[in-house]
Amino acid sequence: MQDQDQAWVAVDAYFAERLIGKDPLRSEILETNAAQGLPPHDVSPLQGRFLSLLVKATGARRILEIGTLGGVSATWMAQALPAGGQLISLEVSPDYAALARQNLDRAGIGDRVQILVGPALESLARLAKDAAPAFDLVFIDADKPNNPAYLEWALKLTRPGGLIIGDNVVRGGAVLESDSEDDRVRGVRTFTERLGREPRLFSTALQTVGEKGWDGMTLSFVET
Ligand code: DHB
Ligand code: MG
Repeated sequence: MQDQDQAWVAVDAYFAERLIGKDPLRSEILETNAAQGLPPHDVSPLQGRFLSLLVKATGARRILEIGTLGGVSATWMAQALPAGGQLISLEVSPDYAALARQNLDRAGIGDRVQILVGPALESLARLAKDAAPAFDLVFIDADKPNNPAYLEWALKLTRPGGLIIGDNVVRGGAVLESDSEDDRVRGVRTFTERLGREPRLFSTALQTVGEKGWDGMTLSFVET
C-alpha cells in the first residue's frame, strides 16, 4: 500500500471513530461476509453513514437498492428509514441474498427490507409492471456494465424530487480512460454521459478516498 493510501485509511479511521464510534454489529456482519467469501465491495463506514444521512435529510420512505451483496449498505439505509419505511433490494445471487437476509435480521431491521432474488433487470421490469409505488431514493450498486440500463429503470421508478445515486463511478481514476476495454469502466462512462444529458436530472459526482481506495458516487436529483 502506498503512503498516500495509508493516510487515506488513517483519516477514514479518525473520522469514523469520532463521528460514528464503535459499530460491533456492522463489524460482525463484515467478518461474516468475509468468511463466506464475499468480495469486499461494501461501503465504508463513512460512506454508509453518508447514505444514512441522505435518507434522513431527504425523508425518504421508499428506497430501491440495485445490488444487495451482503446487505451492508442496506443496513445503513434501512436503519435511517422512518417507521413504516421500506427498502427493496435486488440481488442476483441466492447465496448473497440469503446472507444479506441473515445480516439484516440480525440488525433488527429485516422487516423493513425485502430482497428480490434474480437478475436485477428482470426484477426492475416486474416492479414497473406491478406498478410499484415510486421510490424516493435509488442506490445503483450492482454490476457496472449494466449501469446505463439500471439508470433507465431508475428514471421510471423514482418520483420527481427523488434521488438516484450511482456507486463506484471513479474506479481509481479509470473512468478517464475513453478507450477502456473494461466493461465496468465503459458502463460507468456511458452512465455518466447519460446523467449529464438527461434534462430531468440535476447531477454531480463526489470523489472519495479512504479505506476503499479512490472511488466515488454520482448523485442525481430528479427534477420536479
Ligand atoms: C466494485 C463494485 C462495487 O460495488 C464496489 O463498491 C467496489 C468495487 C467492482 O465491481 O469492482
Ligand atoms: Mg459499490
